[in-house]
Amino acid sequence: MTRSGTNDSNPVHPATTAGAPAPTPTPAPTMRAVTQPRYGSPDALRVTLVPVPSPGPNEVRVRIRAAGVDAGTWHLVTGKPYLMRLLGFGVRGPRSGTLGLAFAGEVDAVGSAVTAFQPGDRVFGSHGGAFAEFVCAPESMLARMPSDAGFDAAATLPVSGVTALQAVRDAGEVHAGQSVLVIGAGGGVGSFAVQLAVAAGATVTAVCSGSKESLVRSLGASEVVDYTQTDVTALDRRWDVIIDIAGNRRLSRLRRILGKRGTLVLVGGENGGPVLGGMERMLGATVLNAFTSQRLRGLISRENAADFDVLAAAVTSGAIVPAIDTPYPLAEAGAAVTHVAAGRARGKVILVP
Ligand SMILES: NC(=O)c1ccc[n+]([C@@H]2O[C@H](COP(=O)([O-])OP(=O)(O)OC[C@H]3O[C@@H](n4cnc5c(N)ncnc54)[C@H](OP(=O)(O)O)[C@@H]3O)[C@@H](O)[C@H]2O)c1
Repeated sequence: MTRSGTNDSNPVHPATTAGAPAPTPTPAPTMRAVTQPRYGSPDALRVTLVPVPSPGPNEVRVRIRAAGVDAGTWHLVTGKPYLMRLLGFGVRGPRSGTLGLAFAGEVDAVGSAVTAFQPGDRVFGSHGGAFAEFVCAPESMLARMPSDAGFDAAATLPVSGVTALQAVRDAGEVHAGQSVLVIGAGGGVGSFAVQLAVAAGATVTAVCSGSKESLVRSLGASEVVDYTQTDVTALDRRWDVIIDIAGNRRLSRLRRILGKRGTLVLVGGENGGPVLGGMERMLGATVLNAFTSQRLRGLISRENAADFDVLAAAVTSGAIVPAIDTPYPLAEAGAAVTHVAAGRARGKVILVP
């Protein structure tokens, strides 16, 4: 309070003239967002009200209609493995207070230097802060939605779709006539990897739990190995390409079922320990690669608009159909993250603001 008794804490407003009512400061518009100041359990995630972000000159503000939940979200919520805290994600809590990365929605406002998009465009992309009603993302991290696709389907593409694309096309160099083994085939990344390998002309064997056999067959897998019944690394078989997404199997076991000149792509795998989280396998593969005729690759995927366009075209042509698990409302973000982390997701989990 000022000495005159008026509430003049907002310096933007001019001084009140005698007798006139004090102007009411316009409150900043707010939105609902899933925020997290500290690493911890997904159960602790809550929706809070935060200011609606304003786009910078090269940014586009998107009204989010669907956001993708992936295994990486669990890592950001819990801060594990600890190595990621040292890699710049934040020591005590995530750098971006609002969670979420992949989204789809409508352009709501554009910065002064934006040329490719205008309000009303249907777009998808990736940027921190997607578990909210609005996000501001650089123009360069957006693409137009595949024609006829829903927001749920488009929100699956920027992280899981791009990871699968870079595993199959770039690291795996999958081509027609090859045999490809996809381990973790029923999850977010795996469901795309199966379809992309089939679209490249390969014959795909999927490794998943028995409950997901019908799903992976519907995606194009010609053979399914239920890992709860059969250890795929003990089979007397060799594949041209192995895309290893789940299970953290030992490198030596995977190499046993890889062709002599075959390619192993390490994408992920949970339960790799609280400190390194399985990164040691990637490091091991990089070193070993120099001493073997097999090609051993560790993948670190990078989201980019060119690959968003490739995936949008694949959806439009029908080459891939995003497999979507039950959508969750924003308020149940914690349950959605737990569902994915437990490996229960059939395809991709979506959050709807
Ligand atoms: N390298 C990168 O740049 C990059 C990018 C994105 C994600 N990732 C990593 O990739 C991994 C998968 O991500 P996601 O989003 O696809 O996760 P997800 O949706 O949870 O899928 C993982 C799937 O693996 C299956 N699974 C669990 N244990 C298994 C085992 N022992 N053997 C075979 N399958 C098993 C699970 O279902 P069933 O058990 O029912 O079969 C689940 O469907 C995560 O570790 C993530 O961190 C890496």
